Amino acid sequence: MARFKGKVAIITGAGSGMGRATAIEFAKDGATIVIVDLNEQGARETEKIVQEYNVPTKVIIGDISQKEAVQNIINSTVEEFKTIDILANIAGIPMTFTPLEEVEEEFWDKQMAINVKSAFLLAKYALPYLKNNDSKGSIVNIASIASVRPRPGITAYCAAKGALVQLSRSLALEVAHTGVRVNVINPGPAETPMLEKFYGNMDPVEGRKLYEDSVPIGRLCQPEDIAKMVAYLSSDDASFITGAVYNVDGGRGL
Ligand SMILES: NC(=O)c1ccc[n+]([C@@H]2O[C@H](COP(=O)([O-])OP(=O)(O)OC[C@H]3O[C@@H](n4cnc5c(N)ncnc54)[C@H](O)[C@@H]3O)[C@@H](O)[C@H]2O)c1
Repeated sequence: MARFKGKVAIITGAGSGMGRATAIEFAKDGATIVIVDLNEQGARETEKIVQEYNVPTKVIIGDISQKEAVQNIINSTVEEFKTIDILANIAGIPMTFTPLEEVEEEFWDKQMAINVKSAFLLAKYALPYLKNNDSKGSIVNIASIASVRPRPGITAYCAAKGALVQLSRSLALEVAHTGVRVNVINPGPAETPMLEKFYGNMDPVEGRKLYEDSVPIGRLCQPEDIAKMVAYLSSDDASFITGAVYNVDGGRGL
């Protein structure tokens, strides 16, 4: 099966966790993979894994919260591969439990810039290509179950992810007539390098248990759980799905 043969997929955050798993999932199905991350070492490691599937790849290092970096991501992708079919906005930053009174304005702004504004910038510059190539373009944004089921101490993160959900739903409506679909995944607590950054100074065993116990299915989300959903939503099998928000969370949002 090569669902994505000939399709060009930009995957942000592909240097780690869910982004890396998504790059591998798309590569298995023949996509051309554009690996975007701030972390060059992680991005190169992903590239090495993905190349085993004999698909074209490109690594772009850049901060997705910066307009110039996003313009470079889009322009250099199109320069090399002519088009963009799939945009998977997976990169994000966590928040360690902090009472709101102790949250600095700069931290708040950074949450909004990386967890929300980046999705605006990437969509803004990718849409002309997603719309105009008969490819039935797809955007998938990774929010968090925290967008609908908050935890105390991560208010800036919850606010940013909540905004990302509504950005996605609104954009889905705005571009539906063009054939571009926009969907959201809310992962539950996931076994990636990000998880321990949420519990900060807490004992790692206790921190992990706190999150594991919060999931009714009784295990942490694996990066592959998210990757499979990103691939499904980006595929023709999901051609009638737009503006949808999927909780891939083992029931955590209930
Ligand atoms: N891990 C969890 O428990 C969890 C739960 C719900 C939602 N999420 C969300 O899932 C997404 C993926 O997280 P993950 O768990 O795979 O985390 P991760 O830390 O393993 O990977 C995130 C990647 O994003 C990259 N990144 C961060 N800021 C960037 C920037 N400004 N520009 C470019 N790249 C940047 C990092 O370098 C890293 O490689 C994030 O949006 C996160 O908020 C994670």
